[in-house]
Amino acid sequence: MKKRYIGVFDSGLGGLTTVREIVSELPDENIVFLGDTLNMPYGSKTKEEIIGFTKHNIEMLRRFDLKALVIACNTSDANARMEVSQAYDLPIFGVIGSAVKEALRVTENNRIGVLATDLTVRSGAYEKQIKELNSDAQVFQVACPLLVPLIEKGELLDDRDHLEEVLRSYLKDLDGKNIDTLILGCTHYDLLMEMTSGIMPGVKIVSSSRCVVNDLKDQLQAEKNCEAPATRKFYVSSKPERFRRMASQIIKDIEIEKIIG
Ligand code: DGL
Repeated sequence: MKKRYIGVFDSGLGGLTTVREIVSELPDENIVFLGDTLNMPYGSKTKEEIIGFTKHNIEMLRRFDLKALVIACNTSDANARMEVSQAYDLPIFGVIGSAVKEALRVTENNRIGVLATDLTVRSGAYEKQIKELNSDAQVFQVACPLLVPLIEKGELLDDRDHLEEVLRSYLKDLDGKNIDTLILGCTHYDLLMEMTSGIMPGVKIVSSSRCVVNDLKDQLQAEKNCEAPATRKFYVSSKPERFRRMASQIIKDIEIEKIIG
């Protein structure tokens, strides 16, 4: 039987936090991952650029026989979802809708913070989707443009203290807002989960990387058409060596190739 894959893409390391969840929840599924490291960070690009990158990533992944696609990138989901969801005959799962549902499920005071890239914040996608489901909810967004470049540079391994200092400075914007729930609205920020809860004790942290996997699981468990052992393939569009160093901290035994095209 021909192998069918779950395709996953992001601008870089953040998407691996979603892959990690898929591996843990759906261990028999084949996965093909693409990190568009050539164009990272997505958060500082224009909407038009993100639409172009998103389409290109999907075309690359469609070289494999895909059973589903996960947009493991909030910035793509916020800015290009509409444009691609009609264009492909494929179940497409985005991170934002799943994180919004989870945040609204756990909040008790309807005051929700969102940390995201500049372009995700500017798209207003989180605020719109939260308000559509609960018009009483109040949303406090903070754009954190430095976090993705610092994570990709390896600061989690090389200069954690500096990374924490930068994160703290962004979280200061939420002082006095009385949020009880905070969405990590960029998949890279899942890597800062512990650091964030350390700075904001008592606040419920919702990871966009993780929530989407519950929705994926609901759909794929109904199908039950995968064959063990699972195959996992990892590609990046630039600098595989740099990516590998941090990637191996997120997923063990990872082989990364540069994708051409
Ligand atoms: N991890 C991505 C996201 O969820 C992209 C971050 C970036 O490249 O700026 O938004």
